[in-house]
Amino acid sequence: MKIAHSPESQHFLHVDCITQNRPASSFPWQKKKDGSAILQNFSLSLKQDERVGLVGCSGCGKSTLLKAILGLEPLTGGMIYCEGKRVQPGSVASLLWYRQRVQYLPQDPVSSLPPMQKVKDILNEPLNRLRNTKKDAIYLRNALEQVELSHHVLDKSIAQLSGGQAQRVALARALIIKPDYLLADEPVSGLDLPLREQIKTLLLNVAKENNMGLLMVSHDISILVGLCERMLIMADGQIIEDRPTAEIIHSPHHQHTRQLLDAVPELSLPVGNDG
Ligand SMILES: Nc1ncnc2c1ncn2[C@@H]1O[C@H](COP(=O)(O)OP(=O)(O)O)[C@@H](O)[C@H]1O
Ligand SMILES: [Mg+2]
Repeated sequence: MKIAHSPESQHFLHVDCITQNRPASSFPWQKKKDGSAILQNFSLSLKQDERVGLVGCSGCGKSTLLKAILGLEPLTGGMIYCEGKRVQPGSVASLLWYRQRVQYLPQDPVSSLPPMQKVKDILNEPLNRLRNTKKDAIYLRNALEQVELSHHVLDKSIAQLSGGQAQRVALARALIIKPDYLLADEPVSGLDLPLREQIKTLLLNVAKENNMGLLMVSHDISILVGLCERMLIMADGQIIEDRPTAEIIHSPHHQHTRQLLDAVPELSLPVGNDG
């Protein structure tokens, strides 16, 4: 397979000057926005083992960016590189290669799982599609162990699980092929506070154990503190701050960042925290 190489090949992921336009809307009152850019000439580089938080108000383009990085929707312009190889736009083969490295945890992951399907079938699906492995119980057990679920859930359907258990299955599904990088779109926003903390700790442990990078979207900065060492603040389709999390928390440069921090009054950075 012939794959174009990027000048930024030292980075694991490189978003090279992408533009993503709004698709045509079926709602007449939104027609005037049709075709306008959500992201315009947007660039970003991510290292393989770094954990990065992406924060911004609703509608600023966070999900659009994640979907563009993943190649879920065709780009209006620009390119995405992984390990220096162009994957967007790219061939089916390069996309398959890419999916083995970069996985996605969608917003509200539980509702993205078929409720009547058994957990073992949900976990086997990416193995069959991306790893070409024989169905092997050991893979399933390891994935469940990573997310601290008992193997007894394998024969249950998603509808039979609690919200927290289903969330863990969604995470196990993304982790089972051992990706190098995980893109997570507000994976904890639908959960209550104790569950959020549990999933946050789980993500941190899994990322460290597997040497896996993470780009995690959240509108709640407190979830990212202690998890992500680098933080991106996004507004209106652009990154307005890109600095270590601790620096942003202690001395935000931008008025918009200050407003986001003010929305989390209980936020305080633990001493000796690495995030
Ligand atoms: N499929 C779509 N059709 C039309 N507009 C869209 C679509 N997806 C996103 N948008 C618009 O693009 C902007 C960014 O959306 P999104 O990336 O979902 O923001 P965020 O995830 O930061 O809340 C919003 O103004 C949203 O209305
Ligand atoms: Mg979103």
